[in-house]
Amino acid sequence: MEQTIKCTINAGRLWRHIEELGRIGRNADGSITRFPFTKEDLAAQTLISRYMEEAGLSVETDAAGNLIGRWTDPGCKNNPPVLTGSHYDTVLNGGRFDGTLGVLGAIEAVQTMKEAGIRPAYPICVIGFKDEEGNRFGYGMIGSKSICGIVSEEGLDSEDQDGVSLRQAMTAYGLQPEQVQTCRIAPVKAMLELHIEQGKVLEKHQKQIGIVDGIAGLVRYRIVIHGESGHAGATPMTERKDPVVAMSKWILKVTQLAKEKPFCVATVGSIQTFPGTCNIIADRVEFTLDLRSIHEQDICEIMQTMETENEWLEQTEGVCVSQHLEQRLSPVLCDMKLKEQLQKICETGEYSYMYLMSGAGHDSMNFKDVCPLGMIFVPSEGGYSHRKEEFTGKADCAAGAQVLMEVLIQQSCT
Ligand code: GLV
Ligand code: MN
Ligand code: MN
Repeated sequence: MEQTIKCTINAGRLWRHIEELGRIGRNADGSITRFPFTKEDLAAQTLISRYMEEAGLSVETDAAGNLIGRWTDPGCKNNPPVLTGSHYDTVLNGGRFDGTLGVLGAIEAVQTMKEAGIRPAYPICVIGFKDEEGNRFGYGMIGSKSICGIVSEEGLDSEDQDGVSLRQAMTAYGLQPEQVQTCRIAPVKAMLELHIEQGKVLEKHQKQIGIVDGIAGLVRYRIVIHGESGHAGATPMTERKDPVVAMSKWILKVTQLAKEKPFCVATVGSIQTFPGTCNIIADRVEFTLDLRSIHEQDICEIMQTMETENEWLEQTEGVCVSQHLEQRLSPVLCDMKLKEQLQKICETGEYSYMYLMSGAGHDSMNFKDVCPLGMIFVPSEGGYSHRKEEFTGKADCAAGAQVLMEVLIQQSCT
């Protein structure tokens, strides 16, 4: 039986938490850089722990550094928990809402439920996931992967730009990478994540709530092209093995292939040339590829075509191309029953809503073989995300947290 809702989340308290957390890692230009296993990470973790304690949750961190606030009512017995949350790391020069809204909105939802005297029959765990963005090590989502039991040894060996491995950074932060299998939570009743949309779809359609149908899959590669160094003035054009030229052709090819498919995007966001100066032909370039689609087939086809492209570049440019896979996530679909519950909540609460796909990746993707998953989106002003202009208004944040709370009540009380 579904419990009738009589409580409203505290929009002012949620907004204050968003503002306070948004001060940690803030750069001079107003953007935020909060990388995992840094002092900014620790400061954020400490603040969020305090919010969790104030909400009446019992707080712990696991071997991967996830922050978990548990609410186990005596009536819960051995029932599987309902999980909710998101990440609290940011990209380089990111914004205030990506991830943090899902963590703080979840805390707000359970705090309101507690204040209203609701007694869940299933435990609720609010999780602040560690390192979703993968900006430092490439691997990404170490927290949610640990909880789902799918961390790989190679993932733990990924290195940041200074050659520090994820394993080493975790250990230096006081965590136990060799124990990540102990983070596994199973069985799980459901995983629910509130997140900003990070695109323009809701704004364009003037809807306050997005019910996510599914999340695009992705691959991330580090591409290395070796050529031959030489003098920029004394080496004729016909005698060069310039990896920068090969890279340019490679990028044009991959972006053109993505353009030809309707739900596919390819991004080369980081490029380095070595030795990296104006009058030396580079001997090596390294760059990243982030390739996404809701159809896994698109990704496979493009990467196959790029193998042929690599051979052609090797023959015509005299270079040597290698591709290193850093991350692969299959596209996932959200649970039908959770989507129906969310729709009913929106209709009853008179929230304008629509269904949409997520182009961005999210921690909840990792739960696809663990439990039913549901995602709620709220609008991103101008579609801006992963930059300092990222903004979602107070009313939209509150609406998202309210919808999250109502679905949590339905999932945890029945
Ligand atoms: C996470 O924000 C991602 O989709 O890269
Ligand atoms: Mn992000
Ligand atoms: Mn995010």
